[in-house]
Amino acid sequence: MKTTTLAALGLATTIATTATAEDIKIGLLLPYSGVYAALGNEIDAGFALGLEQFGGETDATFEILREDTEVKPPVALGKAKKLILQDEVDVITGIVSSGVLGAVRDMVHGAGVPLIVSNAGNDEATGADCSPFITRMSFSNGQVNRPMGTWMYEQGIRKVYTLAPDYAAGRQMIDAFEQTFTAAGGEIVGQDFTPFQKTQDFGPYLTQAKSSGADAVYVFYAGGEAISFVKQYDSFGLKAELPLYGSGFLTSSLYVNAQGPAAEGVIAASHYVPTIENDANAVFVDGFMAKIGHAPSEFAVQGYDAARALVEATKAGATDRASLANALRQVTFEGPRGILSIDPATNNIVQPIYVYETVAGTDGLTQKVLAQLPSEADPANDCVMDPVSN
Ligand code: BEZ
Repeated sequence: MKTTTLAALGLATTIATTATAEDIKIGLLLPYSGVYAALGNEIDAGFALGLEQFGGETDATFEILREDTEVKPPVALGKAKKLILQDEVDVITGIVSSGVLGAVRDMVHGAGVPLIVSNAGNDEATGADCSPFITRMSFSNGQVNRPMGTWMYEQGIRKVYTLAPDYAAGRQMIDAFEQTFTAAGGEIVGQDFTPFQKTQDFGPYLTQAKSSGADAVYVFYAGGEAISFVKQYDSFGLKAELPLYGSGFLTSSLYVNAQGPAAEGVIAASHYVPTIENDANAVFVDGFMAKIGHAPSEFAVQGYDAARALVEATKAGATDRASLANALRQVTFEGPRGILSIDPATNNIVQPIYVYETVAGTDGLTQKVLAQLPSEADPANDCVMDPVSN
């Protein structure tokens, strides 16, 4: 695949080079094809912008090698092996699907290559299968969905029907929501997991939801599946009688305009929306708009913050795989999403969660923040974090 140096990106003048400068080889492992291709491209764009904006703060130089996971775990494992063994990258970043993260976990852990996860929420990667080489700069599936169970109950919702694609992310996201919703006193009156990457017609599932006696529907869908689901939900006439809620990916700013008016009124929880008001987000939104031409999504900020974390690690003097892994887990900064830190017990990110509603704005659909929920570290879930020796 394509190799990009910062010089090729026109950035050579912004990066200080000294006699001691290190060249860090980065493997960008993302879906550039398949159902999550738009998400992969958005993370890539955020990552390039992050290196552009923060790269001048370090003496290190960066070389990027891209590989396409195709959202297929066996393909992704082959690409990870190539990056590690043949290209000898110093660090890998990317991975969108929880299934792909599960597939490459043992490879990066065994080879001792630091992985900055810039999407995949797989709870196991910062739980029972945690690794000192895996640091998450995105979110975990539990982290985004757990607060919504409590919040929705507090809004008076008592009976919910849930839907999600049938793979690790769908199962973990719905489990997390269900745990807190039922703990608060709510009831899950029905549930379906739809075949991942294969479901075109959600009609049969919507018929079940309609007759379930639920007060609301709660779902996880992302990318192309989110666009189809939200449109079909609306054209089925369900939105008025059964309000639609979900994890924030459902109505991501990346594709909400493709959903159109069908997305209006949907309420979701996310670790980022472009309408968050803080100085770091203003800089990010302006820079992304100027370079890419649309407002950044949660996927873009994950790439951007992964790049910033890597810059921070090299500023702390890390140059090889082991020292990069150690430095990455100590990164903390205030970025577009607010204050971020890494929980040393799991290497998962700790960050605020925002509940937002999609509403009509002057320039199309926008995200109205309804609540900012506090940052909470995930439960360690049997994670044993072995130290890495430099
Ligand atoms: C996941 O598989 O972890 C995932 C994919 C897309 C959006 C959010 C999570």
